[in-house]
Amino acid sequence: MTVSLRIEQLRAAVEGKEILKGLSLTVNGGEIHVVMGPNGTGKSTLASALMGHPKYEVTEGMVTLNGEDLLEMEVDERARAGLFLAMQYPSEITGVTNSDFMRSAINAKREEGQEISFIKFVRMMESSMQTLEMNPEFMHRYLNEGFSGGEKKRNEILQMMMLEPSMVILDEIDSGLDIDALRIVAEGVNALRSADRGFLIITHYQRLLNYIKPDFVHVMMQGTIVKSGGPELAERLEADGYEWIKEELGITEEAAAPDEEKSFQIPMQTKSPRI
Ligand SMILES: Nc1ncnc2c1ncn2[C@@H]1O[C@H](COP(=O)(O)OP(=O)(O)OP(=O)(O)O)[C@@H](O)[C@H]1O
Ligand SMILES: [Mg+2]
Repeated sequence: MTVSLRIEQLRAAVEGKEILKGLSLTVNGGEIHVVMGPNGTGKSTLASALMGHPKYEVTEGMVTLNGEDLLEMEVDERARAGLFLAMQYPSEITGVTNSDFMRSAINAKREEGQEISFIKFVRMMESSMQTLEMNPEFMHRYLNEGFSGGEKKRNEILQMMMLEPSMVILDEIDSGLDIDALRIVAEGVNALRSADRGFLIITHYQRLLNYIKPDFVHVMMQGTIVKSGGPELAERLEADGYEWIKEELGITEEAAAPDEEKSFQIPMQTKSPRI
């Protein structure tokens, strides 16, 4: 099987507003692509649209995963086809323990009758948690409930390790991680790097790329990719910000859904407040 995620001219809307405006990107097995870009430019929307979040309506374009039409698939089918998303804000699910959730997720990917044995599952979860230096008590906690920001992110990586997806999307996996956790999470990603697995990593910070060496770096503005390069592009962004790209491309407003009124807004209160 050749691993590849092919996105062509993708357009997607949320709440009737178009956010993705004709985005094209191909991630092949063995490659790590990083997407950076100012807040509100559509990065998480891309992740949600790819995963099939019902709020994000794809209006145009084509996406294939390993040659199959991704947009035709239900969310669970996308997961079974090998797509994995670590969300920017992982949901808390009360009443479902982390281990129950993990076991269901693993079994959902398997044929009926081929379910993972309990013993094998526990060993697998324990060893993955050990690699991520997670306290074993997290097996029995409700999914993400009361987890600290960093614990949630580490738990997303645990899911990635156990599900062995062929295409991994990580949305700000580095946000909220302390220095040691950042290294541990990056090691988790690096350990899964392989010729039959691709990564699409959304981040704001070059720092993560000290640990995870990307093959390609893309900049997203206005709901599309406006510039692509290698790791040096991320270094330039860290040093100089986004202004130079906007100047180079003649972009005045980078957001995907700019507030039309903002630029014309006249302050309601023009007098100085009385003291
Ligand atoms: N569920 C939603 N309901 C309403 N608006 C949404 C929704 N999801 C995204 N948007 C809007 O779409 C735009 C792009 O949001 P998105 O979360 O994709 O940005 P982002 O690039 O991930 O930003 P950040 O770097 O801050 O995470 C924003 O203006 C946001 O408010
Ligand atoms: Mg986001």
